[in-house]
Amino acid sequence: MSERLKGKRAIVTGAGRGIGRKIALMYASEGCEVLACDIDGAALRKLADHDPMIAVQKADLTTEDGAATLAVSAAGRFAGVVDILVNAAAIVRFAPIKEMTYGDWKTTTSGEIDSVFLVTRAMWPLLERSGRASIINFSSANAHVALKGLPAIAHTAGKGAVMAMTRQMAMEGGPSGIRANSIAPGFTVTEETEQHLDTPLMVNVREKLMVDRLGTSEDIGYLAIYLGSDESGYVTGADICIDGGATAW
Ligand SMILES: NC(=O)c1ccc[n+]([C@@H]2O[C@H](COP(=O)([O-])OP(=O)(O)OC[C@H]3O[C@@H](n4cnc5c(N)ncnc54)[C@H](O)[C@@H]3O)[C@@H](O)[C@H]2O)c1
Repeated sequence: MSERLKGKRAIVTGAGRGIGRKIALMYASEGCEVLACDIDGAALRKLADHDPMIAVQKADLTTEDGAATLAVSAAGRFAGVVDILVNAAAIVRFAPIKEMTYGDWKTTTSGEIDSVFLVTRAMWPLLERSGRASIINFSSANAHVALKGLPAIAHTAGKGAVMAMTRQMAMEGGPSGIRANSIAPGFTVTEETEQHLDTPLMVNVREKLMVDRLGTSEDIGYLAIYLGSDESGYVTGADICIDGGATAW
């Protein structure tokens, strides 16, 4: 790896596993100082054991207290300045509309929307102090298109909201040099999505691909490096699809 993020200070949420974990590791290997956060303390300890350069903070980011804990930890570690905020933490429940409980709806929308709002709000003063900060959120291919076989009513609401919120963050952040973009992954193999691998859903997923393979956390990590670096200084308010062409037709 090169040092495309050298000197940057980054917060990566949802870093206990999957895409967030991969981004934390790839950022560290690009010379970035990383504070990784998750609700899963054991997963964070494994991450810190794997790469002692990564600092960790456990928090429930669907709560104001959890977001505040992370902001205090970041302020202490990074002397009050954060250059990159990666909001990768999420919780999702899938069920057909008539079977989805209100509790599962709330869990998903809180896990996908509230966590992004609460962390970004808590982190905003630290990002302003950077003068050239980058926020990276996660929307989804499901914010753009419905996928046959995936009962994603709450998830589509959550990820559509994140895409729209990102544009607003870009608008409000512009005067302080804060950029905000969202990444819209298609089906990406992670611990969360592995449960679908042997199901009929995959026929529909594969049928839409122009690239003859499934996406990986590493594919997403490379885009997150670009968006976190100054190479993307003219990119803000964008939602970037990374889905093997699945949403292009
Ligand atoms: N994997 C895909 O195919 C895919 C596709 C589109 C979008 N995305 C989005 O990309 C992001 C990462 O996806 P993933 O598959 O790696 O997810 P994942 O479910 O594997 O990981 C999410 C992480 O967030 C953590 N988390 C959950 N609730 C939390 C809370 N309250 N506070 C703090 N941390 C919490 C979990 O412990 C977990 O480590 C998510 O926003 C997801 O919606 C993923």
